[in-house]
Amino acid sequence: MRFPCPGGGRWRGATDGGCFNALGPSSTSPVRPSGTFPLRGKGRGSGVTAALIDLQKVGMTYEAASGPVEALADVSLRVGTGEFVSLVGPSGCGKSTLLRIIAGLRPATQGTVSVTGKTVTRPIPDIGMVFQAPILLKWRSILHNVLLPAELAGRDAGALRKRAVDLLDMAGLGGFAEKLPRELSGGMQQRAALCRALLLDPPLLLMDEPFGALDAMTRDDMALELLRIWGETSGTRKTVLFVTHSIAEAVFLSDRVVVITPRPGRVAGDIAIDLPRPRTVELRASEAFGRLNFDIFRTLTGR
Ligand SMILES: Nc1ncnc2c1ncn2[C@@H]1O[C@H](COP(=O)(O)OP(=O)(O)OP(=O)(O)O)[C@@H](O)[C@H]1O
Ligand SMILES: [Mg+2]
Repeated sequence: MRFPCPGGGRWRGATDGGCFNALGPSSTSPVRPSGTFPLRGKGRGSGVTAALIDLQKVGMTYEAASGPVEALADVSLRVGTGEFVSLVGPSGCGKSTLLRIIAGLRPATQGTVSVTGKTVTRPIPDIGMVFQAPILLKWRSILHNVLLPAELAGRDAGALRKRAVDLLDMAGLGGFAEKLPRELSGGMQQRAALCRALLLDPPLLLMDEPFGALDAMTRDDMALELLRIWGETSGTRKTVLFVTHSIAEAVFLSDRVVVITPRPGRVAGDIAIDLPRPRTVELRASEAFGRLNFDIFRTLTGR
């Protein structure tokens, strides 16, 4: 059953379930007050083109027990301030690895990575990281999980309590603030973790398959909500790097879709999504939408 979120929020979904596969920052990726971030974008059409993320010839080889695993090779990629860029590619091609490298959670073994013009050498601040799997602290209530980034950033969690409650309301979790993670379904936990990632309103969001567990209709709702959070119509846009296995979702959301090859991941294509904004569900029925889907499919499969 679908329902409007309490508290005037705009997320909709199943009351018991949800399915928002989104996670907050780990303890190694502290989120800081967004006001300290030097570049806040206005997005396409606003004339802001500064590269917020700049990868040059990035390679990554893991030293696994069974031997070296080359996950990424020669990846060069720039993401402009305020851009919404999606990464698509087959399982195991290095998408999560790439996000972790950009976040400074793991060093690349080759090439250079910079964010806002600074070389990334450690976990970067001012970032909302949404991991592929839930990471909630099991002994903390949902509300206190959402408030965690405030504590990590040395901010007054009490002052952010109302924002945390509003985010939970928006996510359809208004009645679950005092529950422990184990009392929520997996999807509800994932939505809570997304709230955590958004608590400090970070200007840069790195999102690793945040909608992976959603049913198709909820997924569409979430996509629209994400565009609102991104700032599609508000004038000041966040920068989003978004991993998905859904070509249609990537086309619907993005300014550009970057296609990654099978491992070792390389950039196989960088496709501009020149569809009008704000995006609407009707857009999915358009010829242009279908053509872009097919272009990306062909780049992905080599057919
Ligand atoms: N810590 C690690 N140690 C060794 N190998 C790793 C490690 N993390 C990832 N890998 C390997 O690196 C490759 C890329 O993994 P990664 O998780 O980045 O892929 P992915 O594109 O995110 O896949 P999926 O779409 O399934 O999430 C895989 O072959 C994986 O086995
Ligand atoms: Mg992954």
